[in-house]
Amino acid sequence: MCGIVGYAGSRQAAPVLLNGLEKLEYRGYDSAGVCVHNAEGLVAVKAKGRLSVLKDRLEGGSALPGCVGIGHTRWATHGAPSDVNSHPHLSYTGKIAVVHNGIIENEARLREKMLRKGATFVSETDTEVVANLIGYYYEKTGDFVRAVRETVTRLEGSFALGILCADLPGTIIAVKKDSPLIFGFGDGEHFVASDVPAILKYTQTVAYLEDGDMAVFDANHVTFYDSTGEEVEKVREKITWEMSAAERGGYDHFMLKEIFEQPKALRDTISPRLRDGKITLDGVELSAEYLRGLRKIYLVACGSAYYVSVLAKYIIEKNCRIPAEAMMASEFRYCDPVVDEKNLVIFVSQSGETADTLAALREAKTRGAHTLAIVNVVGSAIAKAADQVIYTWAGPEIAVATTKAFSTQLAVVYLLAMQMAKTLGTMSDEQYATIVEGLEQLPYDVDQVLSPKYLERCQYLASRCCGHHDAFYIGRNIDSGICMEGSLKLKEIAYLHSEAYPAGELKHGPISLIEDGMLVVALSTVRELFDKTMANVKEVKARGADVLCITLEDLEEQAGKIADNTIGIPAIHPMLQPSLSIIPLQLFSYYVALARGCDVDKPRNLAKSVTVE
Ligand code: M6R
Repeated sequence: MCGIVGYAGSRQAAPVLLNGLEKLEYRGYDSAGVCVHNAEGLVAVKAKGRLSVLKDRLEGGSALPGCVGIGHTRWATHGAPSDVNSHPHLSYTGKIAVVHNGIIENEARLREKMLRKGATFVSETDTEVVANLIGYYYEKTGDFVRAVRETVTRLEGSFALGILCADLPGTIIAVKKDSPLIFGFGDGEHFVASDVPAILKYTQTVAYLEDGDMAVFDANHVTFYDSTGEEVEKVREKITWEMSAAERGGYDHFMLKEIFEQPKALRDTISPRLRDGKITLDGVELSAEYLRGLRKIYLVACGSAYYVSVLAKYIIEKNCRIPAEAMMASEFRYCDPVVDEKNLVIFVSQSGETADTLAALREAKTRGAHTLAIVNVVGSAIAKAADQVIYTWAGPEIAVATTKAFSTQLAVVYLLAMQMAKTLGTMSDEQYATIVEGLEQLPYDVDQVLSPKYLERCQYLASRCCGHHDAFYIGRNIDSGICMEGSLKLKEIAYLHSEAYPAGELKHGPISLIEDGMLVVALSTVRELFDKTMANVKEVKARGADVLCITLEDLEEQAGKIADNTIGIPAIHPMLQPSLSIIPLQLFSYYVALARGCDVDKPRNLAKSVTVE
């Protein structure tokens, strides 16, 4: 979604802002702009399209002198992508410039109000309403800080704002609610950004703004205020990862780099939680008495994190014998869920900022449920709002299509399910010990499926299949959850229409779509269901489908007698098998996307973290 960066210091601001915006490109955007305060006042330059268009317009930044400024990448919500709808937006008074992430829900009412007061609008955006409100209150009070305060108390919805005032060269105000914003401390310079990579080149010392916080700063001073207007000290935190973690490091795409980072990400997520053959999830207190009293565990998330939740349902029910249900966060929120203190609600999110997941979490808390979050981004809104949090240690994930975050979320689900099973006594000591061993071994197993043999096979199959227009992913039991994720990967980066169906459900409708040449990816790694799934493969073959079957190595030959093509993966503990099955599907989608000439890391219309409903 949108990205914000702000700078006050002694360097030229425009190149710093452009550099920061470049690091935020991964979030997804369709236009960009910067505003710098210089001798001419507030000068804004904006451009629809890729950042390179803006860069060209600004000659890399040199065409826009000035040492203080704000920049933005916009993902259109109110009004189409265009130069005029791009941020920064100037107030009708010409005195205020604003960049904004989030959505102002009472925008229409505020626009009406400002029109009545004589304001004019040039764009269709909710952000211009904010600029005009601040402009109006600034005219009234002559006080920049007060004007911002008067405005934010009137805003409904979510916002992270970076604001300049023509009368106060050198000063930037940053304020937020329900949209992330970090403050960066430099030597004689200060930064603000929606995400760490935007400023990591310049500083590793940051403070995370809380909802309602405001930072008023110039190159040398910063004052933080909380939501009541009280001055507060913010804790300075050190970013522990290096810029290289957010760079491609020799790989053609972030997605490929992140696919290859999975063994390490799994090791980082699993190892610290295994001690003396025991799983220990620090900070997670779920007593046997509490677990026994649960009516149901809900798992709530969006996109790939939802598919992890689908897998978690199988894993938790099988091992802990507690009913579990996966729900999409966007549905959970408005379905009047039967949730109270007898429910544990688990939220899964890479970014920790997904608007629907955050709103669902608040809903669950309001209804009295205990909440637990599985999150990758430390200190994110979901991590802070949940009663308990388990971090996935995947490191920064830049590609829009998730890979290593998905794998580490799944690893946390294994750990959590095992810890609960142990507490409840629903699993024998032998079974527990076997799984702990399997978890220790998992990063090495994943590494094997990333060997040249698999890469070449996936690349070859992708070149064979990239001409298809439609695909079905079919599988049973936990394979069906992995099919959903595999199918989403193909859709989002290769723009190929694809649907995932439990294999047994196919004949209840969708099989009517199977015709000559239709691609069917059949996942068959659940040994006891192999024959059943292969029977479904026969059904689609009989109707002309081109079938790619992914199965266990020892079953590959048998599968090859029915399917057109096969990939055999090593058999590991059945519960952990999804962690291996997903790898060829990620690689397959990646290579299909490449073969189709798609922009793998920045797929059209998508954003890395979806901070609007
Ligand atoms: O940051 P989150 O995990 O909450 O994001 C949820 C989805 O938006 C995300 O998984 C999305 O589906 C990815 N693009 C999938 O690759």
